[in-house]
Amino acid sequence: MGDPRLLLVSDLVTAFGTPELQALLQDMQDTMAALDGAGIAAPQIGVLKRVVIFGAEYNPRYPEADPVPFTVLCNPVIVPLSELVEDGWEGCLSVPGLRGLVPRWRDIRYSGFDQSGAPFEREVTGFHARVVQHECDHLDGILYPRRIRDLTQFGYTDVLFPGQDLVDD
Ligand code: NI
Repeated sequence: MGDPRLLLVSDLVTAFGTPELQALLQDMQDTMAALDGAGIAAPQIGVLKRVVIFGAEYNPRYPEADPVPFTVLCNPVIVPLSELVEDGWEGCLSVPGLRGLVPRWRDIRYSGFDQSGAPFEREVTGFHARVVQHECDHLDGILYPRRIRDLTQFGYTDVLFPGQDLVDD
């Protein structure tokens, strides 16, 4: 946070199945794994392309949440499927050590393309929907602190959740 590239709107992916895209995805995957994140967007490693990856086997902050399959999502479009908005705690690899309570659509449909250019869409809810909205916000230059409605619900992870071993995502 503070790097001006994180505030920019990223460009559409126009070429799929290329060595460049594959190298970008590998970099993103390595970074996400090294930092133990649940997702990452290309601008977070300084590449202004509309590419996000995410996936979570199990998240201790959402013990009841369904696992999120590992997904490569290019040029995403999100459509809310209901009016329902839920607050949930979020962290971010670009805002390390902090957590904030962020409102997100509970139910969404998202669509986009995989790394080979194949289109797909999914209807998801809860934690999966939250991760997608968080990552896609990065493509429009939005970090989650801008979405916090009540800034008393923003603080250091180890102060807000003492004794819990939480990861950033
Ligand atoms: Ni993030």
